[in-house]
Amino acid sequence: MDINKPKIIELPKVTDSRGKLTFIESNNHIPFDIKRIYYLYDIPDSETRGSHAHKELQQIIIAASGSFDIVLDDGKEEYKYTLNRSYYGLYVPKMMWRTISNFSTGSVCLVLASMNYDPNDYYRVYDDFIADIFVS
Ligand code: TYD
Repeated sequence: MDINKPKIIELPKVTDSRGKLTFIESNNHIPFDIKRIYYLYDIPDSETRGSHAHKELQQIIIAASGSFDIVLDDGKEEYKYTLNRSYYGLYVPKMMWRTISNFSTGSVCLVLASMNYDPNDYYRVYDDFIADIFVS
């Protein structure tokens, strides 16, 4: 797959009478080694998360429960998604400004990340992000 483009990945889903199970293996179902997992939860109504980009980090974002909307912006094009199934993962390449909003009550946003947390990997100012895109 093209690791510079966002993509909805359909993850394996095992269904039986007891319910459903989804699993994810590094470099098999997703194109990187998982170094970190975090999740957003207890998100107040009409709150927005994200509003930043990463220099190197790649991520998979999953609506483990509930639903939310994600807008990705690579400085040239916008990509819009609604995540509302636990077996879909949105692959987010590096250098993508992301905004996550419209969280349903009780939703859980699960994120698989290719790197440990590094504050220096963030663009927190949109104009700085755009400036670096059009320099390279
Ligand atoms: P931030 O990346 O701004 O969250 P979001 O993308 O949901 O808007 O992170 C919020 C705070 O949490 C910030 O102070 C950094 C801290 N944080 C960590 O310490 N480790 C992590 O792995 C992450 C993702 C955030």
